[in-house]
Amino acid sequence: MYRMLNGLLGWMVGAVVVFALFSAASLAALTALAAVPPERGETPPAIAPDRAVALRHLLTQDCGSCHGLTLGGGLGPPLHRQSLADKPVPYLAAVILHGRPGTAMPPWSAFLTATEGEWLALELKGENP
Ligand code: HEC
Repeated sequence: MYRMLNGLLGWMVGAVVVFALFSAASLAALTALAAVPPERGETPPAIAPDRAVALRHLLTQDCGSCHGLTLGGGLGPPLHRQSLADKPVPYLAAVILHGRPGTAMPPWSAFLTATEGEWLALELKGENP
């Protein structure tokens, strides 16, 4: 009887230790998350890394079909950083999302959220991390 009790006790202590280790680990993970430094200055819109890859692909493939593969201009004007230096991000985001009626520039709002339109504008201006 004593041995059985002892065994049970040992098991319980073991379980408590494992549980404590797990909570310590999740607490450490939480602290690590909270420790991420706040971004400075003008915060670029939050875009998931895989979506960023897809959007950069869109820029060269889809936008590139009119603006040139290297965005140096074609049917559409060049979209290089220097060419857009004096154009504000909200203006560029609006053109990207809503297109420019009466020209070949199509609206992209069916494929992009407002945040993604802004992200693309920042990307063109070289302001994304
Ligand atoms: C079918 C051709 C076409 C495609 C595809 C296209 N554009 Fe355009 N884009 C144009 C044309 C043409 C203009 C110039 C419109 C005008 O005459 O005002 C333009 C203008 C712009 C402007 C304004 C530039 C400025 O200097 O004012 C931006 C920004 C822009 N496009 C971004 C994009 C992005 C980003 C994409 C891809 C998501 C894209 N475009 C896809 C044809 C296209």
